[in-house]
Amino acid sequence: MKVKKAVIPAAGLGTRMLPATKTVPKEMLPLVDKPVLQYIIEEAVDSGIEDILIVTNRAKTAMDDYFDYYPELEHRLMGTGKAEQAHELRRVADMANFFYVRQRETRGLGHAIARARHFIGDEPFAVLLGDDIMMAEKPVLKQLIDAAEKYDCPCVGGQYVSDEAIGAYSSTKLRALEDRIYDVLDINEKPTPEEKLSNFAVMGRYVLTPDIFDILDATPPGRNGEIQLTDGLAALCHARRMIAVDYDARRYDTGSLRGFLEATIDFSLKNPDTGPWLREFILEKAKTL
Ligand code: UTP
Repeated sequence: MKVKKAVIPAAGLGTRMLPATKTVPKEMLPLVDKPVLQYIIEEAVDSGIEDILIVTNRAKTAMDDYFDYYPELEHRLMGTGKAEQAHELRRVADMANFFYVRQRETRGLGHAIARARHFIGDEPFAVLLGDDIMMAEKPVLKQLIDAAEKYDCPCVGGQYVSDEAIGAYSSTKLRALEDRIYDVLDINEKPTPEEKLSNFAVMGRYVLTPDIFDILDATPPGRNGEIQLTDGLAALCHARRMIAVDYDARRYDTGSLRGFLEATIDFSLKNPDTGPWLREFILEKAKTL
């Protein structure tokens, strides 16, 4: 299988980050010097993705504007000795072929992904959640694509989390295949301690096959009355082989205030323009805490 298309569901309401996200989509919040969404697109492109569908809604037009050209602005930058910035704006807009579809009702992640059926057609495809950012040597999506291509089957990404945390994610029943790769035997959403299948939580990245669309269309609303991707994945792993990759990365949920602030600090420290002075600032501050 070759994975060239990706879907980024970004039509959630972002209620955990209100009031900031009332008018600014959480995917457009700046992380150091660029929006969260750009990091996700860069991971997709670095993993070999060429066509990207962003699932959006009526309140999130800033996302398609961001990946469009802005000739007036570029012209002004060129005329004022800022050609480098103008070229950078073009580079970002040309990173991939961008497509958009609206999720007209906020009916859950599974419902958002189902909006991609016509764009995907009959190919395998990647899914990257619009608020999960990764800091990794090898792009996390590439780690999944390599495994999916090797075993020729859908693949979910995740990590082991604590007993306290697993109830906030989906848990999985696994069988070891090789280092950091597993067969997925079962999966459930936000388990109670009794329902927990293991501490391996599926988070943020997926390689799926088009048979997921019929499954999602037949999936009834689950937790919170939403069509849950996890319910669809449970049906998928019962119908055919599905694997999981324990990805090698630090993951940040930028849809939560804590994850957003941690990502801001870590990415600022890593950035050559901001890292050195921020490190000094933090060390100085720490003396008075
Ligand atoms: P989240 O639960 O993290 O996003 O959904 P949310 O619903 O915006 O969050 P809160 O709890 O209200 O703060 C995971 C992913 O699924 C997308 C979100 O945009 C996010 O990328 N999503 C969720 C949709 O695209 N549509 C939906 O109906 C729900």
